[in-house]
Amino acid sequence: MSDADSHDALLLTLTRAARLVGVSRGALQKKIKSGELPTFEGMVKPQDLVRAYPETRLEDNTALERFTNIKDEAFARRVRERVLPGPEVLAERLAGLSRELAQMKTSLERYRTIIDWLYDKFNEYEKSDNRDIKNTFGRLKLWLHHELERETHSDPLQSLAVKESFLRLMTAHVRLLPSQHEFFVEGSDTILDAAMRAGISLRYGCSNGNCGQCKARVSSGKTLAVRHHDYSFTEAEKNQNYILMCSHTAVSDIELETQEITSAHDIPSQQIATRVKTLEPLNDDILLLHLQTPRTKRLNFLAGQSVTLEAGNGAEASYPVASCPCDDRNLQFHIHRTPHDRFADFVFRKLKNGNIVNLTGPQGEFSLSEDSPRSLIFIAYGTGFAPIKSLIEHAMAREVAETLHLYWIEREHGHYLNNLCRSWADALDNFHYTPLTAAPDDAAQVLPRMLQDHPDLAAFDIYAAGPEAFLNATKKFLATHKFPDKQLKVNRVD
Ligand code: FES
Repeated sequence: MSDADSHDALLLTLTRAARLVGVSRGALQKKIKSGELPTFEGMVKPQDLVRAYPETRLEDNTALERFTNIKDEAFARRVRERVLPGPEVLAERLAGLSRELAQMKTSLERYRTIIDWLYDKFNEYEKSDNRDIKNTFGRLKLWLHHELERETHSDPLQSLAVKESFLRLMTAHVRLLPSQHEFFVEGSDTILDAAMRAGISLRYGCSNGNCGQCKARVSSGKTLAVRHHDYSFTEAEKNQNYILMCSHTAVSDIELETQEITSAHDIPSQQIATRVKTLEPLNDDILLLHLQTPRTKRLNFLAGQSVTLEAGNGAEASYPVASCPCDDRNLQFHIHRTPHDRFADFVFRKLKNGNIVNLTGPQGEFSLSEDSPRSLIFIAYGTGFAPIKSLIEHAMAREVAETLHLYWIEREHGHYLNNLCRSWADALDNFHYTPLTAAPDDAAQVLPRMLQDHPDLAAFDIYAAGPEAFLNATKKFLATHKFPDKQLKVNRVD
């Protein structure tokens, strides 16, 4: 039996493997592409993982924690509720692990008996008068002894197995069908919350167990209701194992049949009376408006989309959402004060915490091409950073892109969330941030910087947001360098 064969039963999904060594899926995919990490039908062997990440101390979660903190920032509301799994979930998982342990113990006892029998046979043949037989079985006995010793002293693999068991106690793995998208459910999070946290866009409505829009069929594994729901399933739905993703958590690893949102057209227009939670000046001319929706009527939207806001003086305006769809209740907007803008003027001078702001939307198709395998470049000019921020937070949650590079062009001292961008770059190995300074008309002067950093621009998808003049300059620059049109998405933000 080869070393590789002995671990076939322990193949890991990429999502689980990335979690175990504390890197993003994108970083893992980079190793796979370069041939440093072999895969078998999309799965990874533990010993290959340990070989590819020899430096990783498996008990060291620092990298994962840094990464989780960033996601938590984008997911402010629910993450603070996230704790250990509830007693019922924990008891179910412990029972599952105990069953597995008992099975493994029985198997091990059987193997022990077989090995003892083999030793007896080898000893017997070693006493043979035939020198060839004696030597062959002597060598076999030595090999067996050596292999058994090697297995028991294989520390990194043991640490990996311990970490894997602990992970399974604290989290459950979900695979969606037919997309094959994967994510983890932590603590007693609902499946819907966990999917949104992982940047996966599912169909849902009330988030509250009333509308039934988040129905999904459990095709394998066990779930548990963690929130009361009023929606009643038909007998047929009950028999087919339907659940509500907004009310159930995963007890064991599960597979779920469900529909995902694949384009902006899948999301209906919504009208929501939101309340102002905070108003925070980011500089003299830009204000962070934080709106909160009612608990039972949240905004279903894609990262990068816009909504129309109306704030009581009759003036309304369209703004890109500057926060991640993973927190659909807390919505952020970057309001830029410009002459003759009645809505912005009202927000700066009259709007107060607790006031109502009516929201209609979402609109627009400036969203990530979900299944693109390419790395991502984001170019923002001014408050074009707002939809770009939403896209970046979403891309970080998805963990799929190998590299993310943000170029933010502004006038001098205009990068109003510079520290946030720097903290992303400090925390994540695959995120790069380059602030650039230019007047709007001169933005094209600084774009060649992208080519210096990435001579092979065609290996990227590019998302650009800002005023019309900047977008025209960007398109012209990219066309000159034969950048494929279909890999560029732009969003006008004045
Ligand atoms: S979203 Fe309405 S029942 Fe789940």
